[in-house]
Amino acid sequence: MTAQPKLVGFACRWCSYAGADLAGTSRLEYPASVHLIRVPCSGRVDPTFVIRAFQRGADGVLVAGCHPGDCHYASGNLFARRRFALVKRFLEYLGLEPERFRLEWISAAEGRRFAEVIREMTADLERLGPNRKLREDP
Ligand code: FES
Repeated sequence: MTAQPKLVGFACRWCSYAGADLAGTSRLEYPASVHLIRVPCSGRVDPTFVIRAFQRGADGVLVAGCHPGDCHYASGNLFARRRFALVKRFLEYLGLEPERFRLEWISAAEGRRFAEVIREMTADLERLGPNRKLREDP
């Protein structure tokens, strides 16, 4: 039996974290590979959080926020979209496979979508194997 991949998820408290809650209360099944961190807004996720997660052993990182137009702070998710488009390219430049990082819009009503994203990312990470590119030695 292989170890389950480690997926770190930064979820905006207003939408995506509530979507994860809905997945739980709806008893939707998704892999326990995700370690979810609640943040005020996807725009609050500093790129160094993502890089640090990879350095500290994450095999994949998800940033999830409200759909464009629904951000509680009006444009935090639009900043996140611009910022993480660059971060994704930077991570690929460093040698990480593109499937290891995703930015997703998941609303509070989309528990099913949340479960689907976690299942997809976990399947990708299982296929890719452990992240060895940015990982710091313990
Ligand atoms: Fe959810 Fe900004 S409050 S992305």
